[in-house]
Formats: sequence, C-alpha cells, structure tokens
Amino acid sequence: MPRPLLIAPSILSADFADLGADVGAMMEAGADWVHIDVMDGHFVPNISFGAPIIKAIRKATPKMFDTHLMIAPVDAYLKDFADAGSDLISVHLEAGPHIHRSLQAIRALGKKSGVVICPGTPASHVKPVLDMVDLVLCMSVNPGFGGQSFIPSVLETLREMHALIGERPIDLEVDGGVTPANAGAIAAAGANVLVAGSAAFKGGRGFYAENVRAIRAAAEAGRAA
Ligand code: DX5
Ligand code: ZN
Repeated sequence: MPRPLLIAPSILSADFADLGADVGAMMEAGADWVHIDVMDGHFVPNISFGAPIIKAIRKATPKMFDTHLMIAPVDAYLKDFADAGSDLISVHLEAGPHIHRSLQAIRALGKKSGVVICPGTPASHVKPVLDMVDLVLCMSVNPGFGGQSFIPSVLETLREMHALIGERPIDLEVDGGVTPANAGAIAAAGANVLVAGSAAFKGGRGFYAENVRAIRAAAEAGRAA
C-alpha cells in the first residue's frame, strides 16, 4: 500500500504580517500539513524565525506541524520546538556529528522524528538511522531560501531512498522548488509528502485552493502512471 499523498505548504512564503490567519486559510484551502522552516543564519545562510512564532500560530489549525530545523547545533533547542507545538521535528544529517542522539531526543520528547539530507548527500547515508525515524526529507534545493529551482538529480536520490525505506512505516518528503510541473515526476520517484512554498502561496489567498489542488492532481497523476 502506498503511503497517503500529502501536500505541506511551507510558511516561509506566507504573509508574515498576518501569519496565523494566512496559515489557517491555507489549511482551509485543503493543504494537509504545515511545513515550518526554521533557519539560523549559521547552518544555512538565512534567518527565519524560532519557537515563539510556532507557538503563536499553533491555534490557527489542528493539522500536523512539520518542523524542519535548519540549525546547528540543534539538540539544545529541541525541547523548545516540541513545547511550541511541533508534531514532527526533522533535523539535518549534516548539522552535527551525533544524529542518533538528536533523533533519540526528539522521540523522547514524544514527537515524531525526521532526518533530512541536502541534495549533495547520498541516500545511503541515512541507512544507519532508518529505524529511528518517522520521516525522511530529501531536500531538492540547497536549504536557506524559498523560490529556488528543483535540482533534478534529487529524483534519483528519491528513488534510492524509496527502495531503502522498503516496507517501513516512513514518510518520504521532498522540499524545494516543487511545482505542478514536476510534482508528477517527484511522486513517481516515491515521495509521498510534497512541501511547496512559492507554488502553494502564489497569488494570495484567493488562489490557495487551486494551487494545492494543482500540485496534488499532478502528483496523483505521476503516482498512477
Ligand atoms: C528551503 C526550505 C523550503 C522552501 C520551499 O530551505 O526548506 O521549505 O521554503 O520553498 P519553495 O517551494 O519556494 O522552494
Ligand atoms: Zn523545509
């Protein structure tokens, strides 16, 4: 059985002046998860926001808060992100030398755990931690900014990761440059959670439902092909 196909808009592209309402509108428009990009200006060359913002928007929707931490070091902050209302917390394999410890800490906080790899990291590098995660996130841009172009070699990484995951109950997520034009190939390669920032929020609130529908329809078509 394939895992459910889920669309996770990245709030990096939302209206920060009215964030709670904008997240609420996106979820009402049919999105499945809220993807939350935390950047520290150290692990990645950009700063976004921290745990207090997550706490503030937690009341906007009961849907899954999928927190993607692009920070190093990470361990000292995990509790803050758990307490703020994250349901799933993902950490980068490249962010520190002790990925096992970070993943153990996330589960000990009662949250789902995810491991993330950048486009330059081979799929095989997550093998040692596969039984410690609920999700694997393959970045399809170098993390740090929304609005970048999808890196095509990540399709091969997704195929390899999908095979490595096998029958394990693990979601395979892709993040960066996802649009209706490439969602079919991405889903065909095995991803079942598609993050989209610019493509989901494009045009403002009147377009969210159509944007989400277009990404989902393209992904479903790719899966069926
Ligand atoms: C990049 C972030 C992504 C990004 C996606 O570091 O992790 O989630 O915001 O945005 P788009 O879909 O615009 O590439
Ligand atoms: Zn992300």
